[in-house]
Amino acid sequence: MALLPILSFPDPRLRTQAKPIEKITDEIRTLASNMLETMYAAPGVGLAASQVDRHIELIVIDISEDKSKPLVFINPKITPLGIETAPYEEGCLSVPEIYDKVERPARVRIDALDLTGQSISLDADGLLAVCIQHEMDHLKGKLFVDYLSPLKRQRIKDKLVKREREKVRVR
Ligand code: NI
Repeated sequence: MALLPILSFPDPRLRTQAKPIEKITDEIRTLASNMLETMYAAPGVGLAASQVDRHIELIVIDISEDKSKPLVFINPKITPLGIETAPYEEGCLSVPEIYDKVERPARVRIDALDLTGQSISLDADGLLAVCIQHEMDHLKGKLFVDYLSPLKRQRIKDKLVKREREKVRVR
């Protein structure tokens, strides 16, 4: 097990479109378990492979209180269920310490493969639906800040770039 470095906005690598996984190898299984460990340590409730600079269709999620329900989705496809939308105050491990409201479909179905190659299908609402859509966006190179106004996004970018510079200075 190992902690993986997480890319931060505005790193252009976060904009890479992920590719489907053709074969679920031991390397993929190790990556998934390292991603879960990295997510738990952060701490966060979801992580996409894109965020650890692996541009393949793999996301991990665990919204349980006690880290007891890890979910791994390979080559996920998402379908909104109904037209209802809901707002949620989102954050992202690649946009540290920034939170803002995003409106998304309230219920979604996710179809994917698990680590054994079995098909899984899950209907989600609430936080799980938010999380699934947020992580799926990462695979498309999209971030939650893209839903905000250009002005807000620029302010967030300036703040993170400044914070990064200060970190370098301290080192
Ligand atoms: Ni994120």
